[in-house]
Amino acid sequence: MKDENFLKENNARHLWHPMGHPGDAQQNPPKIITGAEGVKITDIDGHSVVDAVGGLWCVNLGYSNDVVKEAISKQLYDLPYYSAFAGSTNPPAIEASHAVREFFEEDGMARVFFTSGGSDSVETCLRLARQYHRLRGEPTRTKFLSLKKGYHGTHFGGASVNGNNRFRLNYEPLLPGCHHLPAPYPYRNPFNETDPAKLAQNIAAVLEDEIAFQGAENIAALIMEPILGAGGVIVPDATFMPLMREICDRHGILLISDEVITGFGRTGDWSGARHWGVKPDMMSTAKGITSGYFPVGAALFSDKVAEVFETAGADGAIFTGYTYSAHPVGAAAVIATLSETKRLNTAANAGPRGKQLFEGVQKLAEKYDIIGDVRGGHGLMTGIEIVSDKAAKTPMDAATMKRIHETTYQAGAMVRLGMHNILMSPPLTITEDEVNVILSALDAGFAAA
Ligand SMILES: Cc1ncc(COP(=O)(O)O)c(C=O)c1O
Repeated sequence: MKDENFLKENNARHLWHPMGHPGDAQQNPPKIITGAEGVKITDIDGHSVVDAVGGLWCVNLGYSNDVVKEAISKQLYDLPYYSAFAGSTNPPAIEASHAVREFFEEDGMARVFFTSGGSDSVETCLRLARQYHRLRGEPTRTKFLSLKKGYHGTHFGGASVNGNNRFRLNYEPLLPGCHHLPAPYPYRNPFNETDPAKLAQNIAAVLEDEIAFQGAENIAALIMEPILGAGGVIVPDATFMPLMREICDRHGILLISDEVITGFGRTGDWSGARHWGVKPDMMSTAKGITSGYFPVGAALFSDKVAEVFETAGADGAIFTGYTYSAHPVGAAAVIATLSETKRLNTAANAGPRGKQLFEGVQKLAEKYDIIGDVRGGHGLMTGIEIVSDKAAKTPMDAATMKRIHETTYQAGAMVRLGMHNILMSPPLTITEDEVNVILSALDAGFAAA
């Protein structure tokens, strides 16, 4: 490895970073993270902080899980790669598919298709949703519905169902036939409805209206996150996802639960759909499936969907997939991660620690007027919306957000900014004391606003 001077001099000179301005990164170079232990990360200057981001909503087991690390390194020596395209497979892939299926059995999931990450998993679900309807003799069902504020990755399909325009505008035109419903976001919505249950009813009415307008016979699927993550940790009313399920069922529309963040315990339950008592038709997963230690995702399918493919004629063949689908090293990481996730019962810790973080931030909101909205309380996902004028709900300017971020970092916690939102999703192994470190660092950050 080159020395520190080289790293600092070349930081963001040759590498374009995702989700940021390449010119700005040259002016304000990104933090160089050099190591990690437990739930803490350390930068090149030796500054160590609690990682309230969990890498990127993914390092559910923390950074020191040797069982997963050893499984990955052993597999590299046994078989570092072989294709899983039709005609060959590998032992960890077979075992990992069994483990993932078992993990989501209660959600009604019956089959697993491995991918390289969340965007791939979403893309796979969207594609197979269309194919499912074709196989059943309804080839006109090609459109997709989704929620504004939803995030579904960056492939053209995922971007087309995405509900945040900053991920869309520069890349338009996107896929035709994708239509968006209002987000279940009581703080801001077109109905001026602050009651989450009434808001859920309003959105259900819009869904019915949109289905009537598009024609149910033209709609393949509704895709939604059980709790909207990147859009600002938007927690719908408990009635919301069951309402969406019921309406989809009535109109023959598949429900895809995008569990890339909410899967594997983050909500305090093993899946976001289970958190709301819903059984989806498909699930897109990634992140927590390997705790971020190896890039893997999985698209999952219910018995109902599986049966249609498996009993179809030649058209049932799945002509999508990736060079790294069912990668043996990734699969070894999945087996070890799921086993560790269950052994450590991380969902059980996510509930109380998430409540502690949420309630701690609510207390900070009494102290700081710039906190417009605090969202969370369902596992370790917390969002804080920062405003410059509380009555007008004016989004805070970028320079102030940067100052809050940097001061919080210097005071002991890495948090993530999503425009004027602070987003937090620490490892699910975090302790009570470590949550308190995040809260006191945020206190310092807000004081510096
Ligand atoms: C709900 C959801 N879906 C899809 C994705 C895309 O996943 P990836 O970045 O692994 O492609 C993300 C990423 O954060 C996500 O949060």
